[in-house]
Amino acid sequence: MSNQNLGLETQAIRTQLERTQYLEHSVPLYLTSSFIFDDAEDMRASFAEEKERNIYSRFSNPNTSEFVEKICLMEGAEDGYAFATGMAAVYSTFAALLNSGDHIVSASSVFGSTHTLFTKYFPKWNITTSYFDVNKPETIENYIQPNTKILYAESPTNPAVDILDLELLGKIAKNHKLILIIDNCFATPYIQNPIQFGADLVIHSATKLIDGQGRVLGGVTVGRSDLIREIYLFSRNTGPALSPFNAWVLSKSLETLPVRIEKHCENALKVAEFLENHPNVASVKYPFLKSHPQYEVAKKQMKLGGNIVAFEIKGGIESGRKFLNKIKLCSLSANLGDTRSIVTHPASTTHSKLTEEERLAVSITDGLVRVSVGLETVQDVINDLKQALE
Ligand SMILES: Cc1ncc(COP(=O)(O)O)c(C=O)c1O
Repeated sequence: MSNQNLGLETQAIRTQLERTQYLEHSVPLYLTSSFIFDDAEDMRASFAEEKERNIYSRFSNPNTSEFVEKICLMEGAEDGYAFATGMAAVYSTFAALLNSGDHIVSASSVFGSTHTLFTKYFPKWNITTSYFDVNKPETIENYIQPNTKILYAESPTNPAVDILDLELLGKIAKNHKLILIIDNCFATPYIQNPIQFGADLVIHSATKLIDGQGRVLGGVTVGRSDLIREIYLFSRNTGPALSPFNAWVLSKSLETLPVRIEKHCENALKVAEFLENHPNVASVKYPFLKSHPQYEVAKKQMKLGGNIVAFEIKGGIESGRKFLNKIKLCSLSANLGDTRSIVTHPASTTHSKLTEEERLAVSITDGLVRVSVGLETVQDVINDLKQALE
């Protein structure tokens, strides 16, 4: 039976390595750095890639392969490679595909470390980036140059929860023969499949909702097999591979991803509705609230609204700081997509080194608070936010 025809939940649970002679029900952990060969010819043929088999866990490992296979099935991708972190996935994907002199067109609002790659490190290799405003996707084509190779975006964005029209990005990329790469971290493969809309590659920080319990770091890139081949060859030689232990944890986590995401989203919608009616909240951004500026686009491309709610607290930076200090149940942490709800105030913490103007350019206002809604009893989360807002 081909797993391609099975439901996503079944794929996440029943995609499993072949059983060993011990007939284990749950997949074992292959904690080994290398694999052995029968003889010199077996070793030669393996290195020559005449055989598809594991050689060394920097190249591949059974647990890593199982994790990648599941993500490929869930995203509708041809192939993939798993990384130690989401940032290793982002960096290695770009580094494998770009040459000196190439140009990237990226959404202005992307994860901080991705932005640092574009502004601080890639220029060292003469790779430049232009940014389009996430709220003005009609301007994207103005930034495309003859040397543009990649179109890059996240949707929903971190931390402002803006939505980009993936179908539109897919069309632009196709018309201009660009490689469209989407960081699908906030949506997960359960909520949104960018390949359906024309993405060539999809990246995840598996550290977030894929693990979902704040335990391990991981990343993965899936998509077109010709591009993944380049990424694999680069990574096999540079060493950003996911550890077998983390792959085992993440593959197990995928078994419960659909049920976890359903509950995360149900809780997040309730939190968003509560915030929308609070007098000390100026505005709320949640993809499945009708008030979200890109609500129609979100409905078109997302199955659910995700677990991240952004809101604007009245009173700017000082109110944001006070709010964080009053929080009791939720965690103050840099992570997101955990069973535990987490609140952050980007202007006074992660983005405090930027000027107000720079922050505004990436949709971070002084009163912006990001809530990663967890799986606690939702009324307890709402009560915590309520007492902190008063
Ligand atoms: C959208 C997005 N992409 C990439 C990353 C990087 O992932 P990691 O922390 O696993 O390196 C993050 C981390 O927060 C993220 O939010």
